[in-house]
Formats: sequence, structure tokens, C-alpha cells
Amino acid sequence: MQRIFATKIGNYLGKEVHLFGFIISRRNHGSVIFADLKDLTGVCQVVFLKNKNCFKLSKTFNDWDVVEIKGKVNLRPKGNQNPEIESGSYEVEADFLKILSKAENLPISVDGDGYQISEELRLKYRYLDLRRERLQKNLKLRHKSFNFIREYLSKKNFIEIETPILSKSTPEGARDYLIPSRIYPGNFFALPQSPQQYKQLLMVAGFEKYFQITHCFRDEDLRGDRQPEFTQLDLEISFVSQNEILELVKDLLSNLIKKFFPEKKVWFSKLSYQEAIKKYHTDKPDLRKNKNDKDELAFCFIDNFPMFEWDKKEKRYQTLHHPFTMPKLVKNGKIVEDKIEILNSLKKQPEKLLSWQYDVVLNGEEIGGGSIRSNDAKILISVFEVLGYSKKEINEKFSHLIEAFKYGVPPHGGIAFGVDRILAILLNEPSIREVIAFPKSGKAVDLMTKSPSKVEKEQLNELYLKLKK
Ligand code: AMO
Repeated sequence: MQRIFATKIGNYLGKEVHLFGFIISRRNHGSVIFADLKDLTGVCQVVFLKNKNCFKLSKTFNDWDVVEIKGKVNLRPKGNQNPEIESGSYEVEADFLKILSKAENLPISVDGDGYQISEELRLKYRYLDLRRERLQKNLKLRHKSFNFIREYLSKKNFIEIETPILSKSTPEGARDYLIPSRIYPGNFFALPQSPQQYKQLLMVAGFEKYFQITHCFRDEDLRGDRQPEFTQLDLEISFVSQNEILELVKDLLSNLIKKFFPEKKVWFSKLSYQEAIKKYHTDKPDLRKNKNDKDELAFCFIDNFPMFEWDKKEKRYQTLHHPFTMPKLVKNGKIVEDKIEILNSLKKQPEKLLSWQYDVVLNGEEIGGGSIRSNDAKILISVFEVLGYSKKEINEKFSHLIEAFKYGVPPHGGIAFGVDRILAILLNEPSIREVIAFPKSGKAVDLMTKSPSKVEKEQLNELYLKLKK
């Protein structure tokens, strides 16, 4: 007998079906016990009658017992039908029951939205928290959106290419997570803050249209919209203009929303960094007309960022985005493309330079950022020099990219989205933790596996590491 899904029993009226799932509620009426069986599709009602062998066992049910059931599908008596659920007109009269796994009482309630339960408990028992309807729905939507994005981009000739997780430190503004090398004592990989350099090298390799849905790692102070490990939808395109990238982004986002959130009202606007600061005193303006309306999505593209800002504490220039962004030189309101002039400005007045960076803001949150890149090794080197890197450091850290640019590099640009942030906003969730299966807590720990954790002394020895007291 083939396994049948709970919500599909109606297709087997009068026939025997074979079901697997969790028991999620039971009602004992003396000579008959009703139970709801839940599987990946939803629920169906199962009836255990006193005259059947399995009746006695069904009396021992605890919520969340895992069971195997065989039985015949009947129409529910009139008045007992539940039009709210797909299988609501039917029930299974069980004649075989096996309890595959007994469940103890759960330490947290998984009914309701769960917001009132402490984060400590929810994350410690995340595998139970995830049984919650709301989180099941969120993760299913996450999966469907990823499918949608993959199909959308593939149709436009993008290909998804994986880039390494054991990689080299890329300056994206946060601290790196480091991985000590056992084979090369004293040397470290870094977990990628983003695939930035790899995706640019894929343009040198001639792929032209790259994307990836990938994990990125940043050791920074956490907030509701920040995780040490998060997911980017990362894109890079050759022979492309800023406008073409923004048009693509607009089309992708509006189609995604139309498909999964047709009730939402969406609009897009564009501001320069200077306009945003002047008008809204922030580069992440919330342009919703009614901030209490959960179905309003106000996207805003911001461009014309300054290339550098002076870091008073560290007494050096920092890039507002990252060093791979192309500087934008504007003279008398006109963009100057001449490389010599750009190089001159980098040397003499870096603070005057704007950049080809653009951010995507949604309801006041930064959900994406990207830029047209420097594809000229001289300009790239000069940017590193403005940032205070010595020739030796530039060579050690970036020679692969600088060398790659010698062998024919298409002009290119791209963008990356924080997909956790987008999903959290679309689903009206207060934190990105609500759309990630196993997030870290607000204190950057995994409360379920209790990591980070201490390691054995031998492991440290193998890595030639010694802990400071
Ligand atoms: P950026 O650093 O702007 O750009 O990152 C892109 C987007 O990733 C999201 N994001 C985060 N989400 C959750 N937790 C975090 N800690 C976190 N940090 C960033 C944000 C952000 O807009 N390589 C460039 C992209 C490019 O130039 O193409 C980059 O990573 O939504």
C-alpha cells in the first residue's frame, strides 16, 4: 500500500490508505477516539473505534507521538465536517496503528505565534519552535521565493556558481571569522563576508551573468536585522549600466511580490544620497505613506554616495561601500570618465569623489547594495592607497585581482540582497531570526548546539594554537 498524504485522503473515499505523521490532538469520547494526524501537507482526522485492535493503543497517545496508520477513508457525518481544511469532509477509520516514536510533553508550546516565549527557550528548542505553523509557513515561503528567483534569473541567462566558504579576507567593513589552517601553521582562511572578489573574477572568466544564493559571515554587533551568518542573493553582470541593474532588480522584486504577496502595494523611487540626507537625514529613508499599513512596500534606490568618509577614530579614510566600487568624478555637474583625472582626484582630493554605489532600501531598511566596479588596476590600487594600504599589503591581499585585471576584464557591476531582511519585511516579522531555520541568538550564539564552544587541547595543538590566559 502506497503512502498517502493527510490532506489527500478525499481522493481515496472508501479505500484503504497508509499514513505517517505526528498526532497533534486527540479527543477521547469513550467508545471512540478522534485524533488529528499531521504530515508535511497538513492534517486529517483519524477515528479509532472501540471494536478495533488499535483502540487500546490509541488511548495512550500523547501529542506529537509519531505514528503509522492504516485505515479506510469515510465521509464524515453531516455536522462534523470542517470546510476550513482540505481533508475536512473525510476521516480515516483506523484498523492498524504503530507508534513509531513516543513524545514527551514539549518544553515550549508550539501553538500560536510564539512571540511571547523567551528567545532563550525558542532557540534552545528550535526544532520544536519550528513545528509552529508560522515558522513552517515562513520557511516554505523562503523555499518558494528561492525557487522563483532561481527560475527568473536562469531564464535571463544567469548561472548560479558556488564560490568558496574557505576563502580570503575581503574588506567589507566587518570583522572576519577566521579559520586556522592545520597544514600551514600560523595561516588562516577567512569565511567570506560576501563573494565579492570571486564574483568579479567570474566576470574575468567570461561568465557575464552570475548569481548565487549563499551564506555570508560577518563578525559584527548584532541587531534584529543582523546575523553573524546570513544569506545573500548575489549578482554580477558584465557590460552593464547602473540603470540596467536597477531595472532588473525592480522587475525581479515586483514579480516576486506579485506572485507571493499580491495584496501588497508596491512602489519604487530613487534619490541621490545627498537628497536623502537633506530631506530625511538618513540614507535609509522609510517612504511609506502610512507606516501602520503592513501591506505597503516602499522601495527606494539611493545612489551617488561619497566614495570615502574620514574615520575620525582610526584617522584614515574608509569606503562607504567597498574598495572595488568605481569612484565617480563629477565636475560642474558632469560625470568625468577620464581615468587620468579620476586618478588625480584619488591622489589629491579623495573626499570629493562620489562613487557608483547604489543601495536598495525597503521601508527604511537596507535590503541590498551594489556598485559598478573599478575594472582598472591603477584605479583599484589608488583606492587601496587612499585607504592607507602599503604597496606590500596591496600585493599580499589583492594581487590575484590586480593580476586578473591584466588579462582582459569586461566592465562589470552587481548587487547583493540580504534575503533574510527582504523575507522578514514581506512576512511582517519583527526580526530576521523568524525567517532563518537555525539563527544565532541576539548574543551571537547557537543556543541549541551551544556553540561556539571549547575544543579539545589536541585540536588546538594540531592547529598550533595556544589560548591566552
Ligand atoms: P553589502 O555589504 O551592502 O554588500 O551587503 C548586501 C546586503 O546584505 C545584507 N546584510 C546583512 N543581512 C543580515 N545580517 C547581516 N549581518 C548583514 N550584513 C549585510 C544587507 C545588505 O544590503 N559584496 C557587496 C555587494 C556588491 O557590491 O555587489 C555586499 O556584500 O541587506
